[in-house]
Amino acid sequence: MSSLFSLEGKVAIVTGASKETGRTIAVEMAKAGADVVVTARTVEGIEAAAAQIRGLGRRSLAVPADVREAAQVDNMVQKALEAFGRVDILVNNAGSDFIAPALELSEKGWDAMIRLNLKSHFLCAKAVVGTMIKQGGGSIVDIASTEGLRAAPSNPAYGAAKAGVINLVKTLAVEWARYNVRVNAVAPGFIETPVLPMALEGYPHLREIYGRIPLRRATKQTEVAAAVIYLASDAAACTTGITITVDGGMTCNLG
Ligand SMILES: NC(=O)c1ccc[n+]([C@@H]2O[C@H](COP(=O)([O-])OP(=O)(O)OC[C@H]3O[C@@H](n4cnc5c(N)ncnc54)[C@H](OP(=O)(O)O)[C@@H]3O)[C@@H](O)[C@H]2O)c1
Repeated sequence: MSSLFSLEGKVAIVTGASKETGRTIAVEMAKAGADVVVTARTVEGIEAAAAQIRGLGRRSLAVPADVREAAQVDNMVQKALEAFGRVDILVNNAGSDFIAPALELSEKGWDAMIRLNLKSHFLCAKAVVGTMIKQGGGSIVDIASTEGLRAAPSNPAYGAAKAGVINLVKTLAVEWARYNVRVNAVAPGFIETPVLPMALEGYPHLREIYGRIPLRRATKQTEVAAAVIYLASDAAACTTGITITVDGGMTCNLG
């Protein structure tokens, strides 16, 4: 019997899948039954992710694309359609940040953060929604951040971009509900990645926030993937416009 959370028969695109959280999301979605198109700029990274997914018995295609460039995003979606004939799920995961307090943040740095972490979500959503409408529905899941829910000291543009993502998700959810296209977000706190120990070591303000996590640990990448799978699956068929925090309780302990 198929589980409510099964992604069997669905085709997913996961951006930023060349490493860490994006790759974990892509692999876990394949374990849940999806065929997965993996995309990022680094070819070796996405080829390795695709090989891992094929090793699980699912179909996978690696398509390099810079999510900041509309033409590359459109081409990536076209390649996905040529290979698999449909797109049911988009996971907007690509993103990154750098530490710079507002007084030190240049206009160029601001624009770069907004372009990568906010505009790209809009470009990717626009690139798939026409196909989802023709298919009778779909699910878009954006990876936001708890930095978009609270003040983001030393990370003002990233925090603003992620807050923008949380708002964009609500607007697209309302606009596209009539097409049965659901749009939701997952907001992780600190994710367990190889750079986390260095970040905590180098930045006292991050250590202080980390110390407020009630569960007293970082979020595992598989725990981010679990929330994505829920939102992408039919288990969440009546859920749209929400943001699920996966942060060990950190956000509710900061307010
Ligand atoms: N790490 C955390 O603690 C944390 C916390 C909350 C939220 N998040 C969010 O979770 C997501 C994943 O974080 P992570 O730490 O796993 O990230 P990461 O290890 O830095 O990986 C980022 C991914 O995004 C891709 N990417 C970056 N710029 C891109 C571009 N212009 N076009 C296409 N792909 C691009 C990278 O691939 P290429 O370089 O190969 O393009 C890579 O696959 C991000 O949205 C991040 O903001 C992270």
